[in-house]
Formats: sequence, C-alpha cells, structure tokens
Amino acid sequence: MSSTKPISLVVSITFFFFLLLQPSSAQTVVKGSYWFPESEFPVTDINSSHFTHLFCAFADLNSQTNQVTISSTNQPKFSTFTQTVQRRNPSVKTLMSIGGGIANKSAFASMASNPTSRKSFIDSSIRLARSNGFHGLDLDWEYPSSAAEMNSFGTLLREWRSAVVAEASNTSRPRLLLAAAVFYSSDYYSVLYPAQAVASSLDWVNLMAYDFYGPGWSTVTGPPAALNNPSNAGPSGDAGVRAWIQAGLPATQLVLGFPLRPSYYAATTGSAISPDGSIGYGQIRKFIVDNGATTVYNSTVVGDYCYAGTTWIGYDDNQSIVTKVRYAKQKGLRGYFSWHVGADDNSGLSRAGSIFFRLLNIRFFLYEAKGNIFTSFHVFGFNSLTGMGCYGGHHGYPKEVLKFQLFRQWLVKMFVFVTYK
Ligand SMILES: *[C@@H]1O[C@H](CO)[C@@H](O)[C@H](O)[C@H]1NC(C)=O
Ligand SMILES: *[C@@H]1O[C@H](CO)[C@@H](O)[C@H](O)[C@H]1NC(C)=O
Ligand SMILES: *[C@@H]1O[C@H](CO)[C@@H](O)[C@H](O)[C@H]1NC(C)=O
Ligand SMILES: *[C@@H]1O[C@H](CO)[C@@H](O)[C@H](O)[C@H]1NC(C)=O
Ligand SMILES: *[C@@H]1O[C@H](CO)[C@@H](O)[C@H](O)[C@H]1NC(C)=O
Repeated sequence: MSSTKPISLVVSITFFFFLLLQPSSAQTVVKGSYWFPESEFPVTDINSSHFTHLFCAFADLNSQTNQVTISSTNQPKFSTFTQTVQRRNPSVKTLMSIGGGIANKSAFASMASNPTSRKSFIDSSIRLARSNGFHGLDLDWEYPSSAAEMNSFGTLLREWRSAVVAEASNTSRPRLLLAAAVFYSSDYYSVLYPAQAVASSLDWVNLMAYDFYGPGWSTVTGPPAALNNPSNAGPSGDAGVRAWIQAGLPATQLVLGFPLRPSYYAATTGSAISPDGSIGYGQIRKFIVDNGATTVYNSTVVGDYCYAGTTWIGYDDNQSIVTKVRYAKQKGLRGYFSWHVGADDNSGLSRAGSIFFRLLNIRFFLYEAKGNIFTSFHVFGFNSLTGMGCYGGHHGYPKEVLKFQLFRQWLVKMFVFVTYK
C-alpha cells in the first residue's frame, strides 16, 4: 500500500459524508443491485448505504391465475426486506422484481395477451408491493420474443402505469415506482421493444448488458459483458444504450447493468472442470494456483479475463466496473445496477452447480495470485483456505489479509459510489 492511501481515505470519507448530507438531488439517480434469497446472502448484511435502490428478486407469476405470488419460503424475507435494508439507509428504495431468467416465459406471454389476465397480474402486483412494504415493482420478463409479445408487453406497461397512478391517488400514497429488466438492446434478435410504451410507462429500464457470451450458449470465448465492441460485430453495452436511445427512450430512463459473476470456458480439447461450464469458487482458486493463470484487463472492450492453458474466465474487475460507471455518467444515463449484491455471500458459492460468484473474491484472489500485493500467495495459506468464499467467510484468512481486503472492497465501493454523482 502506498503512503498516500490514508490521505485519500480521509478525503473519501469526508466526501462521502458530504454526499450523504446532500438533499434529495441524488434521489433521481439509480445505484442499484439485485438481491435474491437463493444467494444465501443475509439481507441484514446488505450495506444499503451504497445504493439508492434495491431489487428483491423474484416474485412469481402463477400461470393458472395470472396473479403475482411470493413463495411461502420467500415470504418472510420479502415482507421484512424494506424494513431491514432501511435500517442502514432510511432513504433507500426497494422494488419487488417479478419473473427472472428461469421463470416461465410462456406464462408472461399468455398473461400479457389478454385484458383480464393483465388485470389480475397488475392488481395482484400492486397489492403485494403494498402489503410487503415495497416502493415499486420491476418486471423481469426474459424476454418478449415476437412482435405480438412485444405489443402485449407495451399494453401491459401502459395499463400498469395507469393502475399505479390510480392506486396512488386513491390511497394518497406516493406512486409505486415501475421498472423492468430488459435485453441490453431495444432490438431483441430483430424483434423491437415498444420503446414509446416503455418511455411513457416506466420510471426506467435495467439494461442487462451481460451474459453476451457464456459456456452454456456460446461456442467461442468472448467478453461476457463488453462495454465496447470495436468491430461492432457483436453485442456490447454501448451498442445497446445507443439502440435504446435511437428507438426513442431518453437516456435518463436507462440504467446500465453489470454482472458480478464470471463466465468460464474450457476449450473442448482441455479437460472441462465441470460438464456444464459452471464451477465452484474453490475450483477457480485451485485452477489459478495450479496453472499460474494470467490476468488481463482489456481497456478496449472494458472487461477482464484470466487464462491458463485452454481455460479462459471472463469477468468484470474493479477497473471495468469503474469504467462502466463513468460511462453511464458521461452518457447521462439514470444510473447503474449490478447482479447481484450477494457478491459478499460465502455459502452460496459452495452450492454445487452454482454459477454465481463473488466478484470481489475473485478480484482479490487474482491480485494476490499475480503477486502484486503480497509477495507470495502461498505464504498466506492457500491450503488453509479450505472454506468457500474466503473473503466474507473469513475462513482461514490471516487477520491482516482480511483487513486489507475489507479495506480494498470498501475503496472500490466508495470509488464507484462517489464517481456516480
Ligand atoms: C456501510 O457503508 C458505509 C459507507 O461506505 C460505511 O461507512 C459503513 O461502515 C458500512 N457498514 C458496514 C457494516 O460495513
Ligand atoms: C408455463 O406457462 C404456460 C402458459 O401459461 C403453461 O401452459 C405451462 O403449463 C407453464 N409451464 C410450467 C412448467 O408451469
Ligand atoms: C380507486 O377508487 C375507485 C373508486 O372508489 C375504484 O373504483 C377503483 O377501483 C380504485 N382503483 C384502485 C387502483 O384502487
Ligand atoms: C481486447 O479486445 C479487442 C477486441 O476484441 C481485441 O482485438 C484485443 O486483442 C484485446 N486485447 C487484449 C489484450 O486482450
Ligand atoms: C479501481 O479502479 C480505479 C480506476 O482505474 C482506480 O482509480 C482505483 O484506485 C481502483 N480501486 C481499487 C481499490 O483498486
């Protein structure tokens, strides 16, 4: 650590508290993250000071009744979510997210195609948001995928907006916020989102500018969440932002997403670490140590990767995230969000087949592996790191290392938070 760190720390702290004392001008900005129970990250551990909005994911759509429901397992966590995260940051706003990547998309298409089922969806969503103390609703229908479905999506959004406006005036409560998580581009494989309906109905959309490449659906490696694509040949966050703006959505309604999980590949000639391409964190650790993996930040695409032999792992490191946040700011976007806040979870990692990783863990791990912080990675007891998620779990980490990591993590968060103002 250089000797200037303590000074910049003091400056950061001062600046941070200065920002906290600012009145509500930051209200319109979105610095968001998703939380979901399966991450096993306790809600009480979310440091909500870093966020303006938190998304509680996911409520479900019942394909029989077309009503939104919260599973009985999730109910206790959902109903206390807002109260819990507001303890650390009373002004943080919460949105209940509906659907998600593994939800039944036919059920959404079917619900949205018909006025009666749309009404069931809308009324039940509002009822659930209110009875569980959320400030808004977020629709994660991945994805409307035909012209007819896009049309229904637009109709649903317009009716949803009218309903929350009416409910607010009926009850004299602040209107529920409405958001949706959408494809990174307004053009979903040549099917266009109804940008006008989106613009007039939603407070903002969360652009899922990630998962561009992944072991489950790509045959070649590529930056999983590139911000730029110099050749314009493939997907990128910037291309998506430009497409949405061109389609008519104001930049102030766009929120750029970045992932907190890596994409992993093993070349077909190499021995796959796991058949489905998902690996546990312990396996990455072992992989890096065993293979002396090289880590690279590609400033052209804005993405990080590490590799050794035939194995390649793409992810977003500190620099990538900071660059994306700066980009969002420069473009006048509403803000940014990450999937998912449970990056500080440790037990979630250990679940077999989990594809969710802890960005921070991996970052520190790679730094250490590179030897640019500690002279020897092994000295710090790699063998003793038998537990998963050594960062948050404190498994076998010497105190100094842990403190240093907490300090680094704090710096990154501060940096990102302060940058987006
Ligand atoms: C939460 O974040 C704030 C701002 O960075 C920090 O001052 C505070 O110590 C953090 N709280 C915990 C428990 O980490
Ligand atoms: C998905 O939704 C469709 C349309 O509502 C329904 O027919 C089907 O049974 C659902 N599938 C599952 C697995 O629930
Ligand atoms: C608002 O109140 C009117 C009149 O009482 C009622 O018909 C309507 O259903 C209410 N709408 C909502 C969204 O609560
Ligand atoms: C960065 O990405 C660009 C575009 O894919 C590629 O041409 C270039 O070789 C990459 N640089 C590094 C260091 O990986
Ligand atoms: C994160 O990246 C930014 C931009 O490159 C840099 O200024 C900052 O010091 C980095 N923070 C940490 C904790 O590495």
